[in-house]
Amino acid sequence: MHVLTVIDHPDPGSFSHAVAARFGAGARSAGHTVEVADLHAEGFDPRWTLADIEADGADVPADIAAEQARIARADAVCLVFPLFWWGMPAMTKGWVDRVWSWGWAYDQLDDPEQSLQRPRSGVLLVPAGARSDEMAALGQTRALETAWIEGTFGYFGLADRRLELLCGARGSDARRAGLLDRAEAVGRELRAQK
Ligand SMILES: Cc1cc2nc3c(=O)[nH]c(=O)nc-3n(C[C@H](O)[C@H](O)[C@H](O)COP(=O)(O)O)c2cc1C
Repeated sequence: MHVLTVIDHPDPGSFSHAVAARFGAGARSAGHTVEVADLHAEGFDPRWTLADIEADGADVPADIAAEQARIARADAVCLVFPLFWWGMPAMTKGWVDRVWSWGWAYDQLDDPEQSLQRPRSGVLLVPAGARSDEMAALGQTRALETAWIEGTFGYFGLADRRLELLCGARGSDARRAGLLDRAEAVGRELRAQK
């Protein structure tokens, strides 16, 4: 199948970029093709503006049409971004806000599972500075699953949904090597949706 990886980090030498690369290597080793949307390198504008509102679900701005075309040809979508303030960095948040637009991604709010999109696999690969036990004890892990897996990915109709928090991302080389192995395994284990 065809996989779209969306990477949000300004530094090509960052751990987040390494995560995206290893995820892609895993997906390719399983026979998938991979397309990368490097939001910073491509200069994506995350600001939701009057043009987005006036599009009213139809004549979306050209940059949004291009992103939607990327998704249209993908069978799986993987978002890679560092955890910022218990959430998405502004670039990823703006990409979701603008690209997964009303009239294209969804058209009503009373059934969050009713998407206009065909089912796809969805993965969040999220490097985080914190330890996994600290995040779980604070309820942070559950909160992010609710917001992203049930909320954002549910509204978009992603079928097989996976959140991998890569905790301790600023830790030792050995720790980071283990996290990169996990990212590659997630790519290998992607499942096609009918
Ligand atoms: C603005 C900012 C906010 C951050 N907020 C969090 C946070 O809420 N929780 C956390 O665990 N780490 C947080 N971090 C740490 C980053 O998640 C961590 O540095 C990153 O995952 C490391 O990956 P990188 O080397 O690719 O940047 C934050 C970092 C920055 C710069």
